[in-house]
Amino acid sequence: MKIEPKFRGFLCTAAHPVGCAENISEQINYVKSKGKFKGPKNVLVIGASAGYGLASRIVAAFGFGASTIGVSFEKEAVGKRTGTAGYYNTKAFDKFCNEEGIYTKSINGDAYSNEIKEKVIETIKDDLGKVDLIIYSLAAPRRTNPLTGETLSSVLKPIGESFKSKTVDFHTKEVKDVTIEPASEDEIRQTVGVMGGEDWNLWIEALKKADVLAEGVKTIAYSYVGPSITFPIYREGAIGMAKDNLEDTAKELTKKLQNINGEAYVSVNKALVTQASSAIPVVSLYISILYKIMKEKNIHEGCIEQIQRLFEDVLYGDNLKLDEKGRIRIDELEMREDVQNEVNNIWEKVNSQNIEELTDVEGFRKEFLKLFGFGLDNVDYDKDAEV
Ligand code: NAI
Repeated sequence: MKIEPKFRGFLCTAAHPVGCAENISEQINYVKSKGKFKGPKNVLVIGASAGYGLASRIVAAFGFGASTIGVSFEKEAVGKRTGTAGYYNTKAFDKFCNEEGIYTKSINGDAYSNEIKEKVIETIKDDLGKVDLIIYSLAAPRRTNPLTGETLSSVLKPIGESFKSKTVDFHTKEVKDVTIEPASEDEIRQTVGVMGGEDWNLWIEALKKADVLAEGVKTIAYSYVGPSITFPIYREGAIGMAKDNLEDTAKELTKKLQNINGEAYVSVNKALVTQASSAIPVVSLYISILYKIMKEKNIHEGCIEQIQRLFEDVLYGDNLKLDEKGRIRIDELEMREDVQNEVNNIWEKVNSQNIEELTDVEGFRKEFLKLFGFGLDNVDYDKDAEV
């Protein structure tokens, strides 16, 4: 059937399988253009079907030729409803690996559950023996804690007092004022329960207990800091508490992995358009401005460029430097003083009339559509596609 984008709120509820495959192919080509480098052999990616986790899986498989197991939570097509973008991304990734004889196994299900952890452990034992890198890249609105059975929901809210700022509807390009009420104590607790480090810790404990972690194993999760204009909604908001917890978990995990010389890291990455980040008010306007400035300065990167650099130069290269809180920083270009000064200038001036001129909101919109396989040059959207 012919597939077109369909929207519910800011969400896109359709995905184009050919467009998604083209996205994967572009990312693989980028990684190949950088040449092969030395890295781990067996890699587990938790949250492997989109954004930073997908880019991590592509760099592992096509940059250092690793066997990968990927876990994600995606839906296949039902009737006229297409599958999710992550479903098609994963199918395409598997196909490209199979064509090149690279081992891949993709497991679809709830990574927070005991059942999926057990399934992954069985797969590692059967096929790979042990893993030497685990990437933890989940972004989810909810998590059922397998220890208590409680379903927790995360919120994007400030802490303490309400936050007044501006945001953009990137579909209509309208700049609006927003006021976001503060999170309650319980909402903060739940947000930390979803996006903090508890589940990462459960994964590493389960993998260690099953003796499927190789000597010298590394594990990495992704975090964000960003500029002061987004602090109330992000770093000092409920999600920021979760990121503090995730970052503390890295230190605990390094201790737990000491006897096998393992290391756990958090990498602070750049703000990018993904399904997760496009849901955050205020941040969407910030990203539209940031893209404009970073593209003009020729320092813009997407997920694949960020992760290629993280793995080749930092994690498996000779450029591992940590900040005062023990984190890897690959957001240094975003946080450069000249970039942030220009963001602040535009932030003060931007409104619905000048948004197209002052920001890259059109780039944001295009990249958002691209996440679902739409708007790619090499795809014939008039042709019927097999969903
Ligand atoms: P995304 O929305 O592109 O991908 C999320 C992934 O999690 C998908 O593969 C999805 O299938 C998987 N997932 C969600 N719930 C799951 C479940 N219950 N079981 C199995 N898989 C599940 O997200 P994005 O943006 O790549 O975020 C990944 C991490 O990177 C997050 O920790 C985020 O905070 C962090 N990060 C993101 C930045 C951004 O600007 N997008 C910037 C810096 C860090």
